[in-house]
Amino acid sequence: MTEEHPRLTRRAFLVYLLGLAGALGLAGLLAPIVRYAYPVAKAQVAEKQKVAEKSTLTPLGAAVTFDYQEAPAALILLKDGTPKAFYLACTHFGCIVKWQPENTIFYCPCHGGAFAPDGTVVAGPPPKPLVELKVVDEGGVLFVEGTVA
Ligand code: FES
Repeated sequence: MTEEHPRLTRRAFLVYLLGLAGALGLAGLLAPIVRYAYPVAKAQVAEKQKVAEKSTLTPLGAAVTFDYQEAPAALILLKDGTPKAFYLACTHFGCIVKWQPENTIFYCPCHGGAFAPDGTVVAGPPPKPLVELKVVDEGGVLFVEGTVA
């Protein structure tokens, strides 16, 4: 009993080879497009940084200003004593806002933008709230650790 093996002809081999080259070429063309459409998420390193002792702050009083990951930020206590921290870059054009305890707002001198103590916009052109930092209270010592999602 003899078994017949299908024979690969030269033509079939060349067609196979062309198909393979075409598939590889197409993959090479599509890879950058797919990578653009689905970028690899950047690893956000949420550095933990000590900011202040909570006992040194008063609700809606003076802010503690500091740099977090090379950007100016400030920490205040809300009326109920909840600590809140924000990057101070205005969400309009990036001017640095300043906490005004007498008016209980973060004020932007560039175009008159104003943000409430919780970072929400209360006046002016800023389109979004201030970027909030996550505050961690460890036995009365306040740290910031990344941003609030
Ligand atoms: S940059 Fe702050 S209001 Fe325009």
